[in-house]
Amino acid sequence: MSKNPTVLVTGGAGYIGSHALLALRSAGANLVVLDDLSTGNTWAVPEGVPLVVGDVGDPDLVAATLSDNGVDAVMHFAGSIVVPESVSDPLKYYHNNTANSRTLIEVCVRSGVRNFLFSSTAAVYGMPEIIPIEEDAVKQPINPYGASKLMTEKMLADTSHAHDFRFAVLRYFNVAGADPQGRIGQTSKESTHLIKIAAETVVGLREKMSIYGDDYETHDGTCIRDYIHVADLADAHAQVLAHLMGSNQNLTVNCGYGRGYSVREVLDAVERVTGEKLNYDIAPRRAGDPPELISSNQRIRDLVGWKPSYDDLDTIVRSAIDWERGLLARNT
Ligand code: UFG
Repeated sequence: MSKNPTVLVTGGAGYIGSHALLALRSAGANLVVLDDLSTGNTWAVPEGVPLVVGDVGDPDLVAATLSDNGVDAVMHFAGSIVVPESVSDPLKYYHNNTANSRTLIEVCVRSGVRNFLFSSTAAVYGMPEIIPIEEDAVKQPINPYGASKLMTEKMLADTSHAHDFRFAVLRYFNVAGADPQGRIGQTSKESTHLIKIAAETVVGLREKMSIYGDDYETHDGTCIRDYIHVADLADAHAQVLAHLMGSNQNLTVNCGYGRGYSVREVLDAVERVTGEKLNYDIAPRRAGDPPELISSNQRIRDLVGWKPSYDDLDTIVRSAIDWERGLLARNT
C-alpha cells in the first residue's frame, strides 16, 4: 500500500475478518477493530490492534472510533451469515446486514471516510444459469441472507453516485480453511459449512455427517462449489484496498478460484488427507442448494492482480482439520 492507511475492520474478531487483519498488517496497514463479540473472539485480534467492543449500528460509537483513530478506510465484515436462519428470522438479517450497514455508510459519509470494502456473497446470484458466474450475471437471491447483502451493495452504489465515496464489493464463494501458521481459524459453534463439519467429524466432535443429496445433475450427483482458502481471500482484501485507494475506481469482484469440487470430491479429499474412512451417509437434498456455483475470477485477477497461493483442495482441507485438532486441544 502506498501510504500506510488506517483501516477500521468491523467483525475483525470473526473468521474472515481476523484473517484479513493478518493480511492487512503484513501489507503495512494500521488497524482498529469494531466487533460486538457475538460470534468473534478477542484472541483472534492480533496483539497491539485496538479492539472496540460494540455495535456497528451505533452511530455515535462508529463516529468516535473513526475520528479517534484517523480512519482512512472501512472494511465491513460484521454481519450474520447463516442462510437457513435468514429464512426463519429475516428481520435479523435485514437489521444486521442491511440496516446496520446503512448506518455505518452514513457515518462514513458524514465523517469523510471515503473508502469502503464490503463482504458480500455468491448468494446474491441465487440459482445462476450460466457457469462460471461473472459479476454482471443476473442477481436473484433465493434467501433473505443474499437479499440483505445485495441491498447493501445497492446502497453503496447509490451513495457513491451522490457523495465523495468509493467502494469495493467482494463476493465470496465457499470460504474454508485456516491461517497456514495456525494462529486463527473458524470457531463457529453450529456451522453449516461442509469443510468445517467434515473437520469436526474427523476430530470426533460429530459421530457422522451427511451428503445432502446425490441426485443432482452433476457428474457424481452431488453439489459443486468453488472452495477458496481463507488466507487467499484475506490477501484479496488487502490487494483490493490498495487498488481502491490507488485507482479511485469502484469495484465489484468475485472471490473464488474459478473451479469447482463436488461434495463427494471434498469428502474424498478429507479421506486422503487423514488416511482414514470418514463416517458419512447420503441424506435428502437440503432446501435451497443450487447444484453448481463456480466463480469467474477473471476480473479480480485482471484489475487487481490477485493470484491465489493455496489453490489446492487437499491444502484447504488439511488446514481446516489441523485447526480443528488445535481447537479441540485448546478446549479440553
Ligand atoms: N453439505 C453437505 N453436508 C453438510 C454440509 C454441507 O452435503 O453437512 C453440502 C451442501 O448441501 C452444499 C455444499 O455441501 O451442497 C456446500 O455447503 P456449505 O453449507 O458449505 O456452503 P453453501 O454453498 O451452502 O454456502 C456458501 C456460503 C454461504 C453463501 C452461499 C452462497 O457458506 O454463506 O455459499 O450460495 F450464502
